[in-house]
Amino acid sequence: MADSGNEYTIENAGENAIDLLLNDHREVEALFDRFEDEEDPGRAIDILRTIVVELAVHARIEEELFYPAVRSALGSDAKAVLDEAAVEHASIKKMIIDLSVLGEEDPFFRAKVKVLGGYVRHHVLEEEGEMMPMIESTDIDLDALGRRLRQRRSVLMQVHQAQEPPRPTDGGHRR
Ligand SMILES: [Fe+2]
Repeated sequence: MADSGNEYTIENAGENAIDLLLNDHREVEALFDRFEDEEDPGRAIDILRTIVVELAVHARIEEELFYPAVRSALGSDAKAVLDEAAVEHASIKKMIIDLSVLGEEDPFFRAKVKVLGGYVRHHVLEEEGEMMPMIESTDIDLDALGRRLRQRRSVLMQVHQAQEPPRPTDGGHRR
């Protein structure tokens, strides 16, 4: 199942911070597309499990490394866009927690994933349409930041893989 984390570090070595985040965004959008097209419930759950890990790791490297870099480069100019991103990340994390215990038997299973996908796409549009253009005129070392993002993501992916979280279907059977 979800071994896209390994693919990242090998295939995308050398990309700068923006390229790395854009690739992450395209990857997660593709996963949501795959989920929506997948009719087999078991395979859909596997895709969802991948989405949950990808989103959790992606949000964390942005919060730990990318957003602070934007904040330090732009100061108060970036406050509004960073505040909005933080609020959206918090909402995405709440939805992820909900989905992580969601079983395919939940009548709103597909609807909830679809709503999350729509929300993530909206968030991605804002990051790419507002935040990323703002940093083009700054002196952020995007290559160095890309290396740090890549290293941190690799560690977080290994942690997630080592933890082997329960399948969403397992967590769905709650009394
Ligand atoms: Fe984000």
